[in-house]
Amino acid sequence: MATTLDTPRLILRSWIDSDVEAWADMNADPRVMEFFVESTPLQRSREQATRMRDDLERNGYGWWVIERRDAPGFAGVAVLDVVRWDGFEPRHEIGWRLPVHAWGQGFATEAARAVMQYAFDVLQWPEIIAITSRLNVRSMHVMERLGMVRDFGGDLEHPRIPVGHRLRPHVLYRKYRAS
Ligand SMILES: CC(C)(COP(=O)(O)OP(=O)(O)OC[C@H]1O[C@@H](n2cnc3c(N)ncnc32)[C@H](O)[C@@H]1OP(=O)(O)O)[C@@H](O)C(=O)NCCC(=O)NCCS
Repeated sequence: MATTLDTPRLILRSWIDSDVEAWADMNADPRVMEFFVESTPLQRSREQATRMRDDLERNGYGWWVIERRDAPGFAGVAVLDVVRWDGFEPRHEIGWRLPVHAWGQGFATEAARAVMQYAFDVLQWPEIIAITSRLNVRSMHVMERLGMVRDFGGDLEHPRIPVGHRLRPHVLYRKYRAS
């Protein structure tokens, strides 16, 4: 059963049917997908939404839907995930993706703060990382607002992005649970 998280302006909740098209619309917006290698076809977005709902319900963490208290409906996602890439240790990761109408209001940081607190306090994750393309300054600013610290030694070439692609170089930020 997915836990609902509350913040002053937001509710982070599980998926409902009406989120699926909003998720697909967001993924079809080139402004949102500027730092992703591929756009997501509609059918794949729909399949992802079903899988994310199931994973969130089963695991108790994953891709939460962000909803504004003052404007019901889909306002993006905040994510806790375990990344497992060949050649890398599994890592606990945080992430976010919001439709453009929800940018510039502090919602991504507010939502991410809530899921980060959940990861540290409830899931007892000892450390959280965030990665993004070196070009994704907006996302790096969210990481910094969360108090995450860039690990310059952790810069990486994303293993799933083709060699030579401008989005392949990634930065890595970390935050440790306060002991
Ligand atoms: C990355 C992304 C989530 C950042 O969104 P964002 O709206 O810039 O981030 P925040 O929610 O933290 O909002 C911060 C902005 O809101 C402003 N703001 C306005 N009202 C605010 C309030 N009440 N409280 C806090 N900030 C507020 C801040 O001043 C800041 O503005 P600035 O960027 O001009 O300095 C968004 O651009 C996005 O979804 N991008 C596409 C997907 C993506 O790249 N995801 C990351 C992949 S790794």
